[in-house]
Amino acid sequence: MQAELDPKMIVYFGGQYVPIAEAKVGILTHALHYGSDVFEGIRAHWEEAQQEMFAMRLLEHYERWKQNCGIMRIVVPPSSEELCEITLELIRRNNFRTNVYVRPIAYKCAERVGISFDDQDAFALIALPFGDYLAKEGGLHACVSSWRRVDDNAIPARGKIGGAYVNSALASDEAHRCGFDEAIFLNEAGHVAEGSSCNIFMVRKGKLITPSVTENVLEGITRDSIMELARRELGIEVIERPIDRSELYICDELFFSGTAVGLAPVTQVNHRTVKDGKIGTIARGLQQLYFDATRGHLPAYSKWLTPVYKTRK
Ligand SMILES: Cc1ncc(COP(=O)(O)O)c(C=O)c1O
Repeated sequence: MQAELDPKMIVYFGGQYVPIAEAKVGILTHALHYGSDVFEGIRAHWEEAQQEMFAMRLLEHYERWKQNCGIMRIVVPPSSEELCEITLELIRRNNFRTNVYVRPIAYKCAERVGISFDDQDAFALIALPFGDYLAKEGGLHACVSSWRRVDDNAIPARGKIGGAYVNSALASDEAHRCGFDEAIFLNEAGHVAEGSSCNIFMVRKGKLITPSVTENVLEGITRDSIMELARRELGIEVIERPIDRSELYICDELFFSGTAVGLAPVTQVNHRTVKDGKIGTIARGLQQLYFDATRGHLPAYSKWLTPVYKTRK
């Protein structure tokens, strides 16, 4: 999934482009102790035939990031448009010619002991070569986690807040140790929420169904893209509603979506096959559409893409 890091790789830290080896934070940094950071995950795909890299829904990611930073009272001074420019420059300075994952992180940076927030904020952007995540020939085997999804009144799941990812890490670790590829969270109401780092969709009777954004899920940008592709390209009805756990066992198709995973079909849940245990036709179709859209093969979706190298000024 992730290649070994080159210590000379350039990151954006403290308002400058510096080698990653120079981008360090102090041991008392508030975010390290209390999880007071908000991060993002953005992908840019290298397209060999066009000798170009396409960043996916860059502006939307920065708009979401800045909104979520507001939940945590973290100020990121550059505008979303300026953050897009910094990201493009960062990828260019590294001269990446492979798929890249961009990790913006904004955090409470005061170096002291004490929980409450103060007004010292910092942010950094890291871009790294990144291959497939959670991909598996024949589909993923998932389990319903024994951990519940964090509630909006505890730590908002939509916030992409560092501390909330302990919840994800506990579920993911448990799933892996039990021999599964990914966990499926239920929320406190007992409804299906999402994966540890991805949204979830099921197909029942030809309709695509996903938990609504008030079910304690991240408001995924890939989720939104998949819904648009399903409606526009496949003419499928998309419904946002609560999903019961038992529907996971009787649905026709199941898949995860996310920036890291793309679209990842699930063929088993808790040792029960999803339908006949084969990847479903809707999941396959959407996977191909999403692949093509993110690589610039579908002109109707070029609105989602920012070319990295051709936009060089
Ligand atoms: C918990 C969680 N849900 C869903 C997603 C998918 O969101 P997006 O499609 O915006 O990457 C992520 C992505 O990081 C995530 O961490």
